[in-house]
Amino acid sequence: MDIKISNSLIQAVSADAILVSLYEGVDISSGATGAVDMALNGAVSELVNAKDVRGKLNETAILYSRGVMPAQRVIVVGLGKIEDISLDRIRQAAAAGAKKARELGCKTIASCVFGASSMDISSAAQSMVEGTLLGLYRWRKNHTSPVEREDVDSLTLVESNAQKIEAVESGISTGQSVASGVYCARDLVNQSPNNMTPAALAESAQNMANEAGIKCTVHDLEWIRSQNMNAYLSVAQGSANPPKFIEMEYNGSDEPPLVFVGKGITFDTGGISLKGADGMEDMRSDMSGAAAVIGAFKAIAKLKLPVHLVGLIAACENMPSGTAYRPADVVRARNGKTIEIINTDAEGRMTLADALSYAAEFKPKAVIDLATLTGACVTALGQNVAAGYFANDDSLAQKVNEASNASGEKLWRLPLYVEYYEKIKTDYADIKNSGGAGSGVGSSAVFLEEFTSYPWTHWDIAGMALDKIGSTPLYPHTHPPHVTRGATGFGVRALVSFAREWK
Ligand code: BES
Ligand code: MN
Ligand code: ZN
Repeated sequence: MDIKISNSLIQAVSADAILVSLYEGVDISSGATGAVDMALNGAVSELVNAKDVRGKLNETAILYSRGVMPAQRVIVVGLGKIEDISLDRIRQAAAAGAKKARELGCKTIASCVFGASSMDISSAAQSMVEGTLLGLYRWRKNHTSPVEREDVDSLTLVESNAQKIEAVESGISTGQSVASGVYCARDLVNQSPNNMTPAALAESAQNMANEAGIKCTVHDLEWIRSQNMNAYLSVAQGSANPPKFIEMEYNGSDEPPLVFVGKGITFDTGGISLKGADGMEDMRSDMSGAAAVIGAFKAIAKLKLPVHLVGLIAACENMPSGTAYRPADVVRARNGKTIEIINTDAEGRMTLADALSYAAEFKPKAVIDLATLTGACVTALGQNVAAGYFANDDSLAQKVNEASNASGEKLWRLPLYVEYYEKIKTDYADIKNSGGAGSGVGSSAVFLEEFTSYPWTHWDIAGMALDKIGSTPLYPHTHPPHVTRGATGFGVRALVSFAREWK
């Protein structure tokens, strides 16, 4: 989709639809909405006075200009109460407006930057672009039937003040980079697991890296063995698809790196501790952490951020078979610690254990891992509500909070209590890979902590990787309009925000 900027007045722009925003209970006589109302001889006022539209967040209404303006129609988009305005609400409203435009078959849309009177205009423009692109995302790769409505071709952001054009332009460019990273992550997760094997994931990372000018090395089984990554190998050994260890590096600075680690289970059957059939197909999303890391690298390279980044993904598939690992097996991880297997479905932490110990080789300033690790985290915080995060360092946790707030991707801190550690003690090895029923998300995090030796934060994104409902007016919060059905690409935006502020 083409995104342009125009230094003009919204009512003078020609497009299939122009978008104007409406706050709840606020007089519309001023600003772009007022100008369009005037051009339409009071049609927006009439809509508002009749209470046909109230300006509630993401509410839309359509008016036809019938020749009085060059644009064929006006889509009025609600922004909610003026005191509640935020970058996330701008992102949502832009998505709601763009989706409405596509539903109507519009190919060209134009809009002012919503909320610009009370927000930083560059950030608001970024949110407009993110909302539009993310809301219009569709996964059509395996469909042979044509779409009902074609894609929107272009969005023009209209700004009348020439002094603000530069700021809007920079916001557009940031928004495009971020959205391209989220698209990349969503595409990877939406692929079916027969296609998205560990080798295919590695190839996708390699292709992204080649395009972005990033270093990427794909290590094969032999290298993984030479690294003594036996925790990771124990999971991989059950699958006919060989594991691939993906290592990416982006050199935006000479400082010691920040390392992103992504869980990359291309399909999680549970292994010998087999999952039930109901919903098992969702385990296509068990490489969402890896996808977020790859997507974030793509966005960060496009943005040319001045950071040194390393990305690590221990990709493999968790299958039951004659060669699969079993409950009661004991394996020695890369860092020498022995692990007793209690449940082969607790495979993510096995692969992350060795990736986290390998991360130490880079003498990192900090490590962030992202993983669809536990159903318990979903139970704790809710499906499509927030990801949980753990941190062994308070100043790092502070930075995670800031990245969460800046990006609008919700991350809620959970504790690393020593009681959780007691739940993974065993008579048979140093630790076991499951704390058993009721041990919560905390026992998975303290398990990972055993393999860290640097400032570290773990993001459990199990409840955020997939959107099973898609946005509907009934679920405005858990399903905001910029989140589409299927893969969400969760984590990319927060990682980019984190990297933008990293010093
Ligand atoms: N990939 C799953 C976690 C998951 C659950 C992700 C729901 C997305 C949605 C993970 O590998 C898993 O199976 N975890 C187990 C751990 C248990 C066996 C200790 C779980 O949460 O039940
Ligand atoms: Mn599992
Ligand atoms: Zn898993």
